[in-house]
Amino acid sequence: MTTYRIVRASNPQDLSYRASQTISRYINLVLGQRDRCRIALSGGSTPTKTYSLLGQEHIPWDRVDVVLGDERWVSTDDKSSNARMLHNTLFSAGPASMAVFHSVPTVELMNADASARALAKMITQLCSSNPPVFDIMLLGLGEDGHTASLFPGTAAPLVMDRWTTVSHSKGVDRITLTAPVLSAARQVIFLVSGANKQVALKRLLDPQELSKRTPARLVQPANDVLIIADQDATAGF
Ligand code: 6PG
Repeated sequence: MTTYRIVRASNPQDLSYRASQTISRYINLVLGQRDRCRIALSGGSTPTKTYSLLGQEHIPWDRVDVVLGDERWVSTDDKSSNARMLHNTLFSAGPASMAVFHSVPTVELMNADASARALAKMITQLCSSNPPVFDIMLLGLGEDGHTASLFPGTAAPLVMDRWTTVSHSKGVDRITLTAPVLSAARQVIFLVSGANKQVALKRLLDPQELSKRTPARLVQPANDVLIIADQDATAGF
């Protein structure tokens, strides 16, 4: 059974600071034991401030491989591109620009399926394991209980025999890591901010909750899942 450890932040700013410090500490811990640290990062709006703060941390970034846990099938100059968001935050300036970013190939390929296959090949080679194991898997939580691009009511959460798949949201194709890869990570961290996430967070923590309604419950790593959440998201429990 998946166990969760909650760190309560007082507000979104405190959440971003705590998250950046926690990730920085984990990266240094990994690099104290292995040559390289492989991290998979979430898109969305919650982590942007975290990434800007993390990007200023003095870490051996040249030994860090960065992958996105999901991406929209758009060009990297599209405002919804997660790669664009990372370039404007984590990689915008300072030490983290030395990290090795393995971006998801999107519109330069024929279609989203081709991008999903290319991502699967890339992460399998990068992590040289099946399923690919990331040292840190940073995830967000949608109001509807999705994480990465594993949306309820779609086929994406059900894909267990491949490491990536195509998903869709708001009319846009997405490429996403699948549940087996999210669960294989050595340390999963969810960042959850805002009163609008209270219900989804309660469901994530409920052992009776079905992953059919809350796909984030499919993330079942061997180690404790760390949840860094602010007061608005954890009010009432
Ligand atoms: C994405 C994310 C997605 C996100 C949640 C929460 O690419 O959008 O991977 O899973 O983490 O939708 O998004 P917010 O942080 O914007 O609430």
